[in-house]
Amino acid sequence: MAAKIVPSVTTADFSRLGEEVAALDAGGIDRIHWDVMDGTFVPNITFGPAVIKSCRPIATVPFEVHIMAQRPEELFERYVEAGCSLLLVHPETLRQPHQAYREIRGLGARVGVALSPATPVDHLSHVLDLIDLVLVMTVNPGFGGQAYLKSMVPKIAQVRALLDWSGRDIELEVDGGIGPATIEGPAAAGADVFVCGSALWRYDSFGEAVADLRQRALRAQAG
Ligand code: DX5
Ligand code: ZN
Repeated sequence: MAAKIVPSVTTADFSRLGEEVAALDAGGIDRIHWDVMDGTFVPNITFGPAVIKSCRPIATVPFEVHIMAQRPEELFERYVEAGCSLLLVHPETLRQPHQAYREIRGLGARVGVALSPATPVDHLSHVLDLIDLVLVMTVNPGFGGQAYLKSMVPKIAQVRALLDWSGRDIELEVDGGIGPATIEGPAAAGADVFVCGSALWRYDSFGEAVADLRQRALRAQAG
């Protein structure tokens, strides 16, 4: 099993975003996770496709965008044009999930379904042929630096069982409060991609953070 480490830039110093992105990129990460928040679906506002696009030439790794916004369909094309190869959407924000997932694929990007803590996994069983990744949120969406919700571990295991049953190659990502003290639970329950925000900035370097977190996840996955 893989253990991909995917930094969220939510904790970055936005006055020097380009430098932060370059430093993350050099630290051995697998992708960069861009948290778009609209002040309506979640009580916080971050940035949109123009900011992501401006950082695209600075990094070599793929970009994923986690869209915490109402009516995300209106900007799908712009995220892809900004250089995001994976779009993560919350089903409750979509008018027609099937159509939205097909539209993302049609734009040449991969589809990720993000489940907030109180969103049940049932939706997934109806869309397994249309998606490439499931994101289980381990905090309520809206802010970086929140406390990890340990109560999400059974849900991660439930999603892992469903994905294994599907026989399809679908990634299982976790997001929220993931760091050295919390990564092992989701890894043991079957997660293979780990979004890390604030925890990365508490290490001496991003390289050290990525190596430590990946090693902890791999150890937990191996049992
Ligand atoms: C929460 C975001 C997360 C989060 C990650 O709404 O989706 O990506 O900011 O940051 P940490 O790891 O600090 O919780
Ligand atoms: Zn996120």
